[in-house]
Amino acid sequence: MDLQDIQKRIDADLGAIKTDADCGTFHQRYLSKSGEVTALLGQLRDIEPSRRAEMGAALNNLKKSTEERLFTLQRQIKEAEFKARLMKDKLIDITIPDINARQGTLHPITVITREVEEVFAGMGFIIEDGPEIATEYENFESVNIPKNHPARDMQDTFWLERQEGAASVLRKKSAEPLLKQNASVSDLLVLRTHTSAWQNHMLKKYGPTFRAICPGRTFRNENIDATHDTTFFQVEGMMVGEDISIANLIYFMKEALAAVFKKDIKVRLRPSYYPFVEPGFDLDASCIFCDARGCTVCKHTSWIEFCGCGMIHPYVLQQGGIDPKKYQGFAFGFGLTRLAMMRYGLDDCRILNSGNLEFLKGVPQK
Ligand code: DAH
Repeated sequence: MDLQDIQKRIDADLGAIKTDADCGTFHQRYLSKSGEVTALLGQLRDIEPSRRAEMGAALNNLKKSTEERLFTLQRQIKEAEFKARLMKDKLIDITIPDINARQGTLHPITVITREVEEVFAGMGFIIEDGPEIATEYENFESVNIPKNHPARDMQDTFWLERQEGAASVLRKKSAEPLLKQNASVSDLLVLRTHTSAWQNHMLKKYGPTFRAICPGRTFRNENIDATHDTTFFQVEGMMVGEDISIANLIYFMKEALAAVFKKDIKVRLRPSYYPFVEPGFDLDASCIFCDARGCTVCKHTSWIEFCGCGMIHPYVLQQGGIDPKKYQGFAFGFGLTRLAMMRYGLDDCRILNSGNLEFLKGVPQK
């Protein structure tokens, strides 16, 4: 039995293999049931006993190493053939992971909104989602801003006109004649100027005892600069029930701010005017940047103005079908855009609506 001869032919034949089909032929010739190596194994019993063990081991090694070499070769050939086919046919195998795949990132407003929702949900608040288009009643009348009320001028409004199933934006100026000539002004729609436009809905849906927040996009027809954009984000919050007081308002705002900024925060109220609350306040938070030691952000006052709030005006409760003699509540509204600016140290809010990918890719996701 000449193992050297067969080893030489195996080396030569393996070296000549080019295709997957060649691998099949090779396997047939040497390793299959009728193959040469298998035949040699069968001849072992004819060998004289003193050499049988040695020859058997040598033959088995030959068989094993040949199988391994063929297997490796076959895998390389298959990979190369597959790649060549991909290049030729421009096939796309969607099951192959893309080593260059880049992961998307959440928009900073999304990150901050989710965080705020989590904090308030943890305190028992319902998370509401109101539409961006509001009726004039929802945005103004229902929150105690009647027609010709000076507070309407506090918020430059994008007016919309109802059309067959669609709405078109009217600039404020072009809406004015419409407002005058048309007696039923409530036909007009607006891009909500504040999330307070959803207060009436929340009162009717959940009243008389509930707590809820409504985050979302808001719009104003303003001149834009580093701190003003026509599109921005707010959160509206309400808590209604028996014996709700300003103490509850202070407690929840303090807890929420501490949870969002992950540090102890002091709050203070300053009297302010909003038509939908009485009394109304601006709520200041102790400066998160300097921990109230005084810095340029808080202009060395150690306080940062955070949101508008107050006790819900009896008229607003009434409009929501709730008896103001029996129930009270607090409401607040703060800017998610402003919160995102504070969190990410942004000095120009316009980047948030810019679609700037370089900026978005760098946003921490937590
Ligand atoms: N809607 C107000 C704004 O956009 C913010 C606000 C102030 C909301 C006081 C409230 C509130 O609920 O009580 O400027």
